[in-house]
Amino acid sequence: MADQQAQPDRELGPVLVVIPTYNERDNIGKIVKRLHTALPTVHALVVDDGSPDGTGQLADEMAAADDRVHVLHRTEKAGLGAAYIAGFGWGMDRGYQVLVEMDADGSHAPEDLPRMLDALHDADLVIGSRYVPGGTVVNWPKKREILSRGANLYSRLALGASVKDITAGFRAYRTDVLRNLKLHNVASAGYCFQIDLAWRTIELGYRVVEVPITFTEREIGVSKMSGDIVREALIRVTKWGLRRRGTQLRDLVAPKKAKTTSNR
Ligand code: GDD
Ligand code: MN
Repeated sequence: MADQQAQPDRELGPVLVVIPTYNERDNIGKIVKRLHTALPTVHALVVDDGSPDGTGQLADEMAAADDRVHVLHRTEKAGLGAAYIAGFGWGMDRGYQVLVEMDADGSHAPEDLPRMLDALHDADLVIGSRYVPGGTVVNWPKKREILSRGANLYSRLALGASVKDITAGFRAYRTDVLRNLKLHNVASAGYCFQIDLAWRTIELGYRVVEVPITFTEREIGVSKMSGDIVREALIRVTKWGLRRRGTQLRDLVAPKKAKTTSNR
């Protein structure tokens, strides 16, 4: 075991950092190294969707050289949501008590993770947030920032959620929470997966805490964000929002019969 001082996760149990990758060969080595410098005892799981650039092979070499690194190979690019669900399943089967989501491209600083894990002592889900005081975004094109802020505002209004960065992709979940989110019926494929899981967590009454982070746009490689990903999020959030309004209206009209209904 490494230095006990460097273990803010002692009461939390074993931590697995799930890192989805698609064509991140030039990033994956660096990010895992930074992770283990910041937190020597956590494990990393690279979930690669058969990247044509050889990310998966490089991850295999890293895993062969370091017991803390694991790799899950998937055959085709099936979206961020599907990759995370597969990675969470892998981690749950192996007894990890905390499952972290982190991008491979350096946008999420592993150096912020100790603070997030500290916050998890009093929370069920910790979100590394760009949009709470102290949080920032570095080097994003104006267009992308407007898209992100717009998506957050729309989701908050539609769902009545108070989380400021509900699309954030840097998170730490207690595994027990994920077990209760019915991951088998999550259909969100793209980045809307983040909104989906945050909302499921909120709806179940879990404690969600936002910790400010600095999100830095990648220097190497390209974002996988696309029009399809935006459309999927817009359609799904609108549907969930309407369903929620419908439930509220029903409760208003017939309060006696009101029952908590599923959000899906
Ligand atoms: N396995 C797999 N499969 N990995 C994927 C896929 C996929 O289909 N699509 C993206 N990834 C990986 C990337 O390789 C990267 O490690 C991470 O997921 C994030 O992808 P980016 O393409 O770099 O995302 P971004 O920078 O545009 O978006 C960020 O901001 C979003 C909005 O706040 C991410 O942090 C998202 O998670 C976040 O929702
Ligand atoms: Mn990115």
